Amino acid sequence: MTFEGRTVIVTGAAQGIGAAIAGQLAAADATVVVADTNGPGAQAVASRLGHGSFGVVADVGEPDDVAALHAEVIAQTGRIDALVNNAAIVPFTPWDEVDFPEWRRIMRVDLDGVYLMCRASSAHMRGRGYGRIVNVASNTFFAGTPNMAAYVAAKGGVIGFTRALATELGPYRITVNAVSPGLVASEGVMASPHAEAFDFVGGLQALKRRGLPADIAPAVVFLASEEAGWVTGTTLNVDGGHVRH
Ligand SMILES: NC(=O)c1ccc[n+]([C@@H]2O[C@H](COP(=O)([O-])OP(=O)(O)OC[C@H]3O[C@@H](n4cnc5c(N)ncnc54)[C@H](O)[C@@H]3O)[C@@H](O)[C@H]2O)c1
Repeated sequence: MTFEGRTVIVTGAAQGIGAAIAGQLAAADATVVVADTNGPGAQAVASRLGHGSFGVVADVGEPDDVAALHAEVIAQTGRIDALVNNAAIVPFTPWDEVDFPEWRRIMRVDLDGVYLMCRASSAHMRGRGYGRIVNVASNTFFAGTPNMAAYVAAKGGVIGFTRALATELGPYRITVNAVSPGLVASEGVMASPHAEAFDFVGGLQALKRRGLPADIAPAVVFLASEEAGWVTGTTLNVDGGHVRH
């Protein structure tokens, strides 16, 4: 499996799962666009990747940023072969403490951002009759995890959107899939109350160890590859067997 000569955008790749995905794509010779609100973090990751990879400061929930990001990618590489929608806000708030502005803050990034990025990237992919879109969802959608209701709803939206978009983009030979991680020790998780959940979640997993960002990346890399061309509209759980379906 090679990404030689291919350009892949990975959002939220300045740290955590996104950085692991970027690293494994670059190891397969991809030119990776590290898109993140954290500019210095994005540049630091991109500088380690090679193959002409670069960082771009972009907020996926901001239409102007998404347009500018795509213009820069086309200007620098002339192509978009794959898009990995990984950026998200991961809250820890009881449902009855989520007011409407907080609900919208989460939806803006976790669901609107996926829509905006898919819309912009697929416009380029359609013209070339090739594309791979991989949306990073969450197994909290299947588990109904508490203290994350807006996030769980957004990730359910991502899974539904993935299925519908696969149907609409199939005629252009663009595949759209989702990867649904379980709890892993990203920087974001380790700095949040979610870090307290590893013992509990580990007890539910078939595989009894702590998940890591590098455990999620291979599934994303596969679905972003040319070889995954007959897979579309699916959601792949990657969670050590926490949720079986
Ligand atoms: N870590 C887990 O246990 C876990 C489990 C299930 C799903 N996920 C999903 O995996 C993905 C990555 O999670 P993580 O734990 O690595 O997160 P993280 O918090 O460690 O990193 C998220 C990255 O996204 C960036 N980001 C945030 N908002 C952004 C925006 N508006 N535009 C661009 N970039 C933005 C941040 O700056 C950061 O670099 C997310 O979609 C998350 O929902 C994570």
